[in-house]
Amino acid sequence: MSILVIGGAGYIGSHNVHALVERGEDVVVLDNLVTGHRQAVHPNARFYEGDLRSAADLDRVFSEQQIEAVMHFAAFSLVGESVVQPLKYFNNNVGGMQSLLEGMARHHVDRLVFSSTAAVYGEPERVPISEDDPKNPTNPYGESKLIMERMMRWAGEACGIRWVSLRYFNVGGALADGHIGEDHHPESHLIPLILQVPLGRRSHISIFGDDYPTRDGSCIRDYLHVMDLADAHIRALDYLKDGGSPLVCNLGNGQGFSVFEMVEAARKVTGHPVPAKVEGRRAGDPAQLVASSDRARTVLGWQPEAGIEEIIASAWNWHVQHPQGFGDRS
Ligand code: UFG
Repeated sequence: MSILVIGGAGYIGSHNVHALVERGEDVVVLDNLVTGHRQAVHPNARFYEGDLRSAADLDRVFSEQQIEAVMHFAAFSLVGESVVQPLKYFNNNVGGMQSLLEGMARHHVDRLVFSSTAAVYGEPERVPISEDDPKNPTNPYGESKLIMERMMRWAGEACGIRWVSLRYFNVGGALADGHIGEDHHPESHLIPLILQVPLGRRSHISIFGDDYPTRDGSCIRDYLHVMDLADAHIRALDYLKDGGSPLVCNLGNGQGFSVFEMVEAARKVTGHPVPAKVEGRRAGDPAQLVASSDRARTVLGWQPEAGIEEIIASAWNWHVQHPQGFGDRS
């Protein structure tokens, strides 16, 4: 029996595929390569290029392979773009979930681990954020993921599909040997953008706002290593295999770092002065997002290990080895 990883050529999906293969699982990847990279897919995984929204593509995978469970990472995830093109997000993300649940029901596959996000909460009323706190997404990306969670809940009850939704906070880092890592086009995430400065690809890092009500005025986020994240997904698969009922868990380290602190940590890791310039706020950024991951610790027995310097150091190792990323896009 195999695990189907949808979006297994993307940043987070490809690291999960690696962790699954390392653990001895048989892995099948479905990805349309719109944002993913073919080279990021582990050579031991069987690869299907296809679109989740196509019933024919899904039927092909489900009938050719013996799939016991699905991990779903395939979604558009740029907050800013989602505000400008909301329908692109509802079509791909919500439409993809609809097609997946229909496909799973058709082929009697009943376990699903889903990649959700802290963006479902919007501006938090308190930190650390717990799973039952109010969910008021402030952008279509977060809204699309919340809708996807609710679709799993209703369809799961009706069709007997059990699921775990993992709401990630900020994910960074790369595989220890640096052969796969983060490569978005365009790049909008803080860690890779900071590292473009010592790589000589930008002159400075912009700090989006220093007037937030935080300890140094810049935004605070909870950063998690992508391999700690992969460990949580594998635990979620085991939880479902052991008969676990539907579950939502936050995933974060539980400790917040400001943008200034992230730049300082990158200076330490790279030995480069990394010039920084304060600019205006980026629209839609909450001041502070920090997770309570108590539920993941208690129910899944999960414990993240990497601290902020280890996250940045592993990302740096990847970028130094691949200054142009996978080199498959301009
Ligand atoms: N930032 C800068 N300068 C930059 C880039 C980012 O100051 O050049 C700041 C942002 O304003 C933010 C922080 O760094 O305060 C982190 O920004 P990222 O873009 O790396 O991450 P976000 O917190 O905006 O978004 C992440 C995920 C989203 C997810 C969201 C949950 O990338 O997919 O967390 O709120 F939706």
